[in-house]
Amino acid sequence: MHPVSFYLVTDTHYFENKLGVEGKAFDDYMSREQYFMKESSDIIKNTLDRIAEDKETDIVIIPGDLSKNGELESHKSFIKELYRLKESGKKIYVITAGHDYGDDSFAFRDDKKISVQGARFETLHEMYKDFGYGDAIAFDEPTHSYVAEICNGVRMLAICCDSENQPKGAMDERLMSWAKEQTEKAKEDNCSMFAICHYPIIPSVPVFDLVGDAKIKEWRKVASFLADNGVKLVLTGHMHIQSINEFYSSKGNRLIDVCTACLVGSPAKYRKITVDENSLLTVKTIDVGDFGWDTNGLDVQEYFDIQFRKAILGKIFRALNGGKGIVKHLKNFGVKFISTSTVGTLAHLLFFRVDKQLGKRKLTDFISDIGISIFKGDMPYVKGTPEYELISSFLRRFSFVLKKVEPKLSKDGVKINLEEMLLNTIGNNKDFSDADAEFMLK
Ligand SMILES: [Fe+2]
Ligand SMILES: [Fe+2]
Repeated sequence: MHPVSFYLVTDTHYFENKLGVEGKAFDDYMSREQYFMKESSDIIKNTLDRIAEDKETDIVIIPGDLSKNGELESHKSFIKELYRLKESGKKIYVITAGHDYGDDSFAFRDDKKISVQGARFETLHEMYKDFGYGDAIAFDEPTHSYVAEICNGVRMLAICCDSENQPKGAMDERLMSWAKEQTEKAKEDNCSMFAICHYPIIPSVPVFDLVGDAKIKEWRKVASFLADNGVKLVLTGHMHIQSINEFYSSKGNRLIDVCTACLVGSPAKYRKITVDENSLLTVKTIDVGDFGWDTNGLDVQEYFDIQFRKAILGKIFRALNGGKGIVKHLKNFGVKFISTSTVGTLAHLLFFRVDKQLGKRKLTDFISDIGISIFKGDMPYVKGTPEYELISSFLRRFSFVLKKVEPKLSKDGVKINLEEMLLNTIGNNKDFSDADAEFMLK
């Protein structure tokens, strides 16, 4: 691959604070949201300023979910920030995604969540014309996918799977044949090509293979299509997770998917990516740093994590809310048990042995530790850790249930082993990191 270097920032979810960031409805919403809204504009401003200072690279790529939920006002303010970055000498390439348009845009007024005007899909490419679309050497009108030559000999295939004109999160036959033309043209012109797509092409962690919206539809087919047509690298977002994965097509071609976290929520990372003259790909992860807010004495990353912990538990407790009769009683018991128990209490109840220290940990902390570690990447709970041993015993105890469910979950002729899938989701057993990694792209 020809040399190139760029920043990768994704899922910026910019929210214009004039739309309301106070009140009961806002607080209630934030009790189960993974990422920040009130802080988002300052996080983005500060991160883009830091990127502007780096004179080693002049390219910034943002693969979708630019705004919180498509609010026109958020787009306008975000675009202003992009122009500021452009003035510093950077070329910026974006694609838009599901959170960038539609009728679900909202604001907060007088303790209420209210609807506000959202952007229309058909106007997005015009709004962002100076950030990729205007430089396109090929443009797919129905989806707003495009190709841009971001530097000499390097083309970016920007795949948009979140248009109004095709199934969401999918690459249909028509879009694939347009993309094939582009890969062939790149070869003819002696250019290297990599891709960006909002949706992960390869599930970020094994268990996401079972979650419909967590990756592109028919992902093995799409991954094989890209790899077999000379695309060796794809940059993705959407799941707000840090992961790096590789996939080999049946012809033996490899695709690497670098999925990057949401910029404005835990784990709050972005990346710097370089391919050198020997085709060595280097992926480097950078933490979102100080964004000018008082973080109550906490490290910036801890400040982000607190919100994520709140969101994980908020979602669980909300799911346990409501119901009638016995269901209501059981749900209430569930809430009380999770809120007041330790890991040891649960282990005792199920007749498991548990490491003494882990046994003292509050159940709520344990649940959020696992959740946060999955989204941070390089999940630490590998064989030999007390957490692995506990979860492994639990899965073995219920293996008769897992074995019954597995055949129903198998897809594309690939057999599923739920125990292995779940254990590889809590512990990274790949031979490379989800944060900083190197690959030869020859
Ligand atoms: Fe997102
Ligand atoms: Fe998304």
